[in-house]
Amino acid sequence: MGNRLPLIAGNWKMYKTGDEAVQSARRLKELAADAAGVEIMIAPTFTALAQVAAAIQSSNIALGAQNLHWETQGAFTGEISAPMLVNAGCRYVIIGHSERRQYFGETDQSVQRKIRAAVNAGLRPVMCIGETETEREAGKTFSVLDKQIQKGLEGFVFQDLKSLVLAYEPVWAIGTGKTATKEQAQEAHAYIRRQLAAIVDDGFARQVRILYGGSVKPSNVKELMAMPDVDGALVGGASLDPETFSQLVHYQG
Ligand code: 13P
Repeated sequence: MGNRLPLIAGNWKMYKTGDEAVQSARRLKELAADAAGVEIMIAPTFTALAQVAAAIQSSNIALGAQNLHWETQGAFTGEISAPMLVNAGCRYVIIGHSERRQYFGETDQSVQRKIRAAVNAGLRPVMCIGETETEREAGKTFSVLDKQIQKGLEGFVFQDLKSLVLAYEPVWAIGTGKTATKEQAQEAHAYIRRQLAAIVDDGFARQVRILYGGSVKPSNVKELMAMPDVDGALVGGASLDPETFSQLVHYQG
């Protein structure tokens, strides 16, 4: 068992204008000020990043982005690079979220390039993986996770991946109210950790944080976090309201 600091992260997706995001961030800053033994991250939309960075300055909340482009700059209309995110105040970036894989053509190969870009810029990547309902029903959960890990982390060595965070988000549990049971989450997380030990190394697998995502809420966070391989949560819906998210970051009681 490694000594892994739990991370509770809020993915705000395409919700909240800059002003709304600042308001939520300010409230969260007050509510979460006393949260101990846990790291907190929020990932607002791009246009809110710089404003939110200012609002959470000198707090225990880190800023993350929801995506990035793999080049540092260039003629890529509509894209945002890792150095731009760093400059806006980000420490983390979510990569390969299932919504990006499903709707925006994200592939394991683009995930791999984006992780490289994040690492090069000193951003901590939060790499999302997870199976769809059809894949689970067909008994393909582990082979899907395996492929996403293998291809997404191809060519990396331990040294590159020190700041990597994994997020297991079963697609069927995202925004559906259907949470994976704590046993299902533990089983997948343990599998992911074993695979990471095999393809990167043992030490890495012991220290890497694996978050669970998919309908995490105040009523189920405690039992999920009690599982030995669950090191945090990546929260969508329940992260939007600061009071609710504050209950999640205070899951330890
Ligand atoms: P929900 O918490 O709304 O199910 O979303 C999970 C998610 O996609 C976090 O990235």
